[in-house]
Amino acid sequence: MTMSMSAAAATTAATTPLPQLKHSTTPTQIAAFPTTLSRPSTSAHKSISITCSSTALQTPAPTAASTDRVFNFAAGPATLPENVLLKAQSELYNWHGSGMSVMEMSHRGKEFLSIIQKAESDLRTLLNIPSEYSVLFLQGGATTQFAAVPLNLCKPEDDVDYVITGSWSDKAFKEAGKYCKPKIIWRGKSEKYTKIPDFNAIEQTPSARYLHICANETIHGVEYKNYPNPAAENQVLVADMSSNFCSKPVDVTKFGVIYAGAQKNVGPSGVTIVIIRSDLIGNAQPITPVMLDYKIHADNNSLYNTPPCYGIYMCGLVFEDLVAQGGLSEVEKKNIKKAEILYDAIGGSKGFYRCPVDKSVRSLMNVPFTLAKPELEAEFVKEAAKEKMVQLKGHRSVGGMRASIYNAMPLAGVEKLVAFMKDFQARHDG
Ligand SMILES: Cc1ncc(COP(=O)(O)O)c(C=O)c1O
Repeated sequence: MTMSMSAAAATTAATTPLPQLKHSTTPTQIAAFPTTLSRPSTSAHKSISITCSSTALQTPAPTAASTDRVFNFAAGPATLPENVLLKAQSELYNWHGSGMSVMEMSHRGKEFLSIIQKAESDLRTLLNIPSEYSVLFLQGGATTQFAAVPLNLCKPEDDVDYVITGSWSDKAFKEAGKYCKPKIIWRGKSEKYTKIPDFNAIEQTPSARYLHICANETIHGVEYKNYPNPAAENQVLVADMSSNFCSKPVDVTKFGVIYAGAQKNVGPSGVTIVIIRSDLIGNAQPITPVMLDYKIHADNNSLYNTPPCYGIYMCGLVFEDLVAQGGLSEVEKKNIKKAEILYDAIGGSKGFYRCPVDKSVRSLMNVPFTLAKPELEAEFVKEAAKEKMVQLKGHRSVGGMRASIYNAMPLAGVEKLVAFMKDFQARHDG
């Protein structure tokens, strides 16, 4: 959105602070779902009461914060912060006294406007996004951005450069070929996507409109530690940050466009965030569908059509939580610690566990690993699931295991995984 933030509007969105929880077995007092719902009476209506008799509705309400939750290592949709889920739960039925849930609100009403404005304002705070950048809350996933980026940034005859560090950048490259002339300037396929190139050693195309990278390859577990500079002054750097968005501070001014699907680090699926330097907006190719035109969305503050309101609300709660944690420098410290103990466990296993990724570019978010005895991998995943650690199977294209340890994965989850890995090794080594 390009509108300036109204502090008053922004503050109305979150009056109750997020409960700060540790992943523990201590029950948190959350009201159980009522099985009898009554509406307040009005002069025109008699009060009604509805007694729910369906067995589906009698499922016990989640009265405890953590006891019945698993550690979810999925790559996305992924685990969300418990305190955010609990706050959403407490606001679900009647958001801030509005008499309705966020799912039922008009996207043009003052309540939802305060929600989207606060979400943008907190994201701007977190990433220190300068005013000359627009923030868009869109739909269609990062996959839609694979087309939207070339459609908005270049003409069909324009050259653009792509660096292929894994499956996602490869998909982005293939989609761009429909709308411009993308060139692969480096590809890590022959080394099974375990590296990030040294940009001093690769030649960029002088006429390229932009240089596209995937900041963190979710499947292969390689992550840029420094971002490259495009070769020429008028070129821009474009990054797919889907799987490391808001996991650490980023200098937004290095980029022309940053895009990210929300469902890894910042919310549920259905929301895609685009951060774009405003002067790059307004040059879409004539064939660009209206829903892919950044100008349409920027001019309409992400409200051109009905946005994914509930998803944006959830992202807003996550941003608020990240701000409350002390911002992205603090979040990064926690992520480094979690990744360190997991990579150390792999490295210290005397080859029982292996991580193929070059040490210098190992992802803090997605940790792929294999077993020296691949025949044990299915057993590993099965036993871990019994211990309430789920979704550890690697992506079908690479096999092995993958632990996704996004912001919302507590340290306790990684510690439990590491303890399990040691125990599993003790029982199966030799
Ligand atoms: C790095 C990266 N880019 C793009 C995508 C595609 O995202 P979506 O499914 O939201 O289109 C993913 C999904 O996992 C991803 O991890």
